[in-house]
Amino acid sequence: MTEMEMVAEDPLRRLEEKLEAARQGGGLERIERQHAAGKLTARERIDLLLDASSFVELDALVTHRCRDFGMETKSIPGDGVVTGYGTIEGRLVYVFAQDFTVWGGSLSETNARKICKIMDLALENGAPLVGLNDSGGARIQEGVASLGGYADIFLRNTLASGVVPQISAIMGPCAGGAVYSPAITDFIFMVENSSYMFVTGPDVIKTVTHEEVTKEDLGGASTHSAKSGVCHFTSPNDAACLLAVRDLLSYLPSNNLDEPPAGQSSDDPNRQEASLNELIPEDPNKPYDIKRLISGVVDDGKFLEVHAGYAKNIIVGFARMGNQAVGIVGNQPAYLAGVLDIDASLKGARFVRFCDAFNIPLVTFEDVPGFLPGTQQEYGGIIKHGAKLLYAFAEATVPKITVITRKAYGGAYCVMASKHLRTDANFAYPTAEIAVMGPEGAVNVLYKRELEKAGEDRTELRADLVTKYRQKFSNPYIAAERGFVDEIIEPRQTRPKVIRALRQLAGKRSSVPSKKHGNIPL
Ligand code: HXC
Repeated sequence: MTEMEMVAEDPLRRLEEKLEAARQGGGLERIERQHAAGKLTARERIDLLLDASSFVELDALVTHRCRDFGMETKSIPGDGVVTGYGTIEGRLVYVFAQDFTVWGGSLSETNARKICKIMDLALENGAPLVGLNDSGGARIQEGVASLGGYADIFLRNTLASGVVPQISAIMGPCAGGAVYSPAITDFIFMVENSSYMFVTGPDVIKTVTHEEVTKEDLGGASTHSAKSGVCHFTSPNDAACLLAVRDLLSYLPSNNLDEPPAGQSSDDPNRQEASLNELIPEDPNKPYDIKRLISGVVDDGKFLEVHAGYAKNIIVGFARMGNQAVGIVGNQPAYLAGVLDIDASLKGARFVRFCDAFNIPLVTFEDVPGFLPGTQQEYGGIIKHGAKLLYAFAEATVPKITVITRKAYGGAYCVMASKHLRTDANFAYPTAEIAVMGPEGAVNVLYKRELEKAGEDRTELRADLVTKYRQKFSNPYIAAERGFVDEIIEPRQTRPKVIRALRQLAGKRSSVPSKKHGNIPL
């Protein structure tokens, strides 16, 4: 039957047949292969990501334009990517899901146009964009037309940055230049054992550098969540990953002109957490877990940690306090004593800038002995990387609240959202130690000659001087006298104090001087 005859016979049937072909993607055999690899199909993923029956598909019938390598005789409606919009918890989101069953989810010119269309819609309508990546990269049969498609996507990722939240889930291969779209987005999720990201794969690496490395070691979820910091969240399987994306979005506004959605918790804003009065050890050199403090003060103890496996000396993540979404930054004394190094500075700075871009107030818990000394750090550029964290806190105009729990020494005192960087509410515990440097270091510098002269009595003299220095300087009272700390509070009062400050700051309006953009030390 010719097409004309079919239309005459039953136009609805013709439509249904075309849509069914789009739904089948690469066909049953390839769908089974996808399942056998432990992966869901693009459509199954979208169904799990979005609220039930909310998905509206666009461009289901788009086909490629390639006329080389025998492609002129092959065409699959949709062309390897499913795009459209729907809702998550009733809020609009735009989504694309690469369909690995169609030419390995590879990016063709038309497939890129579909993605760009929903990116433009997301930007114009102020709603988040979620990309589900599972692709063999540029469609090899199309050459530069496909590369152009990537660049079109990168441009839109860049223009949308700071306007709508952009989230990438890596649920299969993501290699070559294709990694740069997720890299520009705000958060990257990876599925353990079935996803990988790298600029050049193991074979190329072997040829160029003679290194031997597996795909998993080079660019799997564990590598990028713990070593490179490229990935923010990992999940054991596709379904868990998609649920995690939903959870993250619940803390975020739809766009930069919107406020984050309010929570529904009945956790009493005036609740005092008595156990916190026992949290900070008497010995200033003993560690404690800052996550105990965080879970003790946030609504229902619920904390969504971002970058949990990377630079564990700083903790960042989302929570709600008095039903207001907040971004939490905390030094972690239980890991490398909470010192600031290159990785911690990068992790903190990126998180702070995200929160500031999307109107999420920042709550900082500070216990930091300083920046990590050493040639490795200096050669690696701790100066420029530490400056990023400083820049991010200084530039942020969202409500900022800092609680100094123990150490706040040296440059790190200034950097960690100090009063001097326009922080609105600064609290300190009675255990806070705010000074230029720790007592041992200070005594070694200040009393160098006396200690040399003391000979055998040196140890006793040093201990005595350290005690005196600690009594005089390692406390919060000198900072409080100058107004650098607004209030000294008992640890158990932290939750009500922070929530009251957040409410007081709800209408805050602050800005930076008009400019094209700043020049953050990259
Ligand atoms: C066209 C592709 C494809 C591609 C995979 N396929 N990648 N078709 N263009 N880039 C097709 C395969 O031919 C196969 O078709 C089907 O997808 C599934 O692929 P398999 O190889 O059978 O799957 P698997 O064994 O799981 O291996 C997946 C893979 C491998 C590791 C991704 O396919 C692969 O290495 N692909 C090429 C990757 C690549 O070099 N891409 C270009 C990178 S450069 P059939 O019909 O047999 O099912 C790039 C530049 C971007 O992307 C630059 C942006 C600036």
